[in-house]
Amino acid sequence: MGDAQEKLTYAGYLRLDQILNAQQPRSGEHDEMLFIVIHQVYELWFKQLLHELAQLQRYLDGGDTTHSMRTLRRTLAILKIVVAQLDVLETMTPTQFRKFRDALGTSSGFESTQFRELEAVLGRRDFPKWAPRPEAASQPSVFDSFLRYLATQGYGATKDATKDNTQEILKQVYDDDSSAAVVAELLVDLDEGMQEWRYRHVKMVERTIGGHQGTGGSTGAKYLSSTVGKPTFPDLWAIRNLS
Ligand code: HEM
Repeated sequence: MGDAQEKLTYAGYLRLDQILNAQQPRSGEHDEMLFIVIHQVYELWFKQLLHELAQLQRYLDGGDTTHSMRTLRRTLAILKIVVAQLDVLETMTPTQFRKFRDALGTSSGFESTQFRELEAVLGRRDFPKWAPRPEAASQPSVFDSFLRYLATQGYGATKDATKDNTQEILKQVYDDDSSAAVVAELLVDLDEGMQEWRYRHVKMVERTIGGHQGTGGSTGAKYLSSTVGKPTFPDLWAIRNLS
């Protein structure tokens, strides 16, 4: 080790000077700190989720069952934490929130680029024209990678896995009860996890701002309710109806 190399410290490695100076409340209200911290923590978890999902796609594309499962389990564990975090924010009353809400201006979770990337990675393509299009919307999605994975396991060639026969292929996977079916069920867990987040978020919004408009300009809980219950991987749900 040369003199030029500084001793690596805990704070230095983690860039704590940057992270711990990034909380800049705009009001003098006590509860604004929680609001900032929880959103920042969310964005960090979104970052990690995107990191894990990129890895998942590489494993799926390569037909690696064991590592796909491991990565999916980690992704699900993070999602659980992300949903549970809403409990903390729900300790904030409507009055406490109202006291600093004006300080937020028009900023809103609506504008979370990472959340939109997450949706796009998972397969969402119907983004409104006026919103910036996530980069991942022009890349193969997790579901595309899953179809590629199925092809490596002998279920339909990738080029055959079109909208027309995807459900037949999935039905075969489930009928065989192969390890590919376990991967499929982990994807259903992921789908349910995302839906759970949306449901918990809208309930939290209702109890905090009732029927008021969002700071991002939407109809608030009404708009958010319209996004609840929409599956991420519709084909994996549709096959439950096949006899
Ligand atoms: C008191 C707490 C919160 C309230 C009152 C709230 C309210 C809202 C409202 C009303 C919207 C609709 C868009 C708008 O008009 O602004 C929205 C969207 C959103 N919020 Fe929150 N939110 C809260 C906490 C959070 C937290 C902690 C996160 C975590 C990142 C978050 C992430 C999002 C995301 C990603 C959207 C876009 C959802 C979509 O378009 O499907 N929100 N929020």
